[in-house]
Amino acid sequence: MRVVRSVAELQAWSDRIRCEGRRVALVPTMGALHQGHLSLVEVAAQRADRVVVSIFVNPTQFGPGEDFEIYPRDLEGDCEKLRRSPCDLVFAPPVDEMYPGGAATWVDVDGLTEGLCGRDRPGHFRGVTTVVSRLLHAAKPHVAVFGEKDYQQLAVLRRMARDLLMDVQIVGAPIVREPDGLAMSSRNENLSRDERLQARALFAALGEARRLVAAGELRAPALIDAVRRRIGKEPLARIEYVELVHADSLQPVAEMLDRALLAVAVRFERTRLIDNTLLEAPRCSAPC
Ligand code: PAJ
Repeated sequence: MRVVRSVAELQAWSDRIRCEGRRVALVPTMGALHQGHLSLVEVAAQRADRVVVSIFVNPTQFGPGEDFEIYPRDLEGDCEKLRRSPCDLVFAPPVDEMYPGGAATWVDVDGLTEGLCGRDRPGHFRGVTTVVSRLLHAAKPHVAVFGEKDYQQLAVLRRMARDLLMDVQIVGAPIVREPDGLAMSSRNENLSRDERLQARALFAALGEARRLVAAGELRAPALIDAVRRRIGKEPLARIEYVELVHADSLQPVAEMLDRALLAVAVRFERTRLIDNTLLEAPRCSAPC
């Protein structure tokens, strides 16, 4: 497994693979890798001949007062994990390699970025779309894989690729969870013992909503209320949002028709956790 730090080196490597008629996949990450990231590497390997994993804590997607400084970094440990995965090349650039001469050119996706995490983190998605388009130009992949844990990010990146006629396939991969249901996240490392225990409420609350839907409750306020009440039981949890939105447009819905996304963001001190689940209305078995 090669580790490269320069864009030129990565581009030359990717050109060579492409010339051989092989397919390249990119898995963008910010490191502190866990099983969720590694599952994306597996998905990437199923869809291409060579897999690039980028590790870059992207400063432009963190707002002032967010956790850029304390974001966990462990390149050695990450490479160790990737050596045991189907990753062929790690791209770990310094900041001035990704932003030579600062940043005058930005990529902005309207609409999809305005609700959910976009409301609480102004400028966040602009940083994500900007760095991902730079990473796509650096790695020149046929396919790029992203997790459904960051469902809104995946939707925004799909839209960006479509709108900018990018010659890359954006692929989503399912959420990987800890045994107690907490969605894996590099940020989980920053939780105290008590916070970690209370963070189980996110998955529990989504499960409660699932059960309500299975029992026929399709009204957004009732589902949102149930989730808020469950998370509200945890004294250290501060809810940022609980929303039921259309799975494609991400616009709030008043009632579920067929499918809808239930998404939550909860803060524990400086650690912000997100989770989501796609809900499906039960099919009516009797003629209705
Ligand atoms: P990061 O948080 O490191 O996540 C990298 C990728 O791993 C994202 O596509 C994310 O959705 C996916 N992922 C994280 N936890 C997961 C889990 N538990 N199950 C499945 N997939 C999971 O997301 C980013 O970095 C950045 O915004 C990035 C896209 C790299 C741009 O800087």
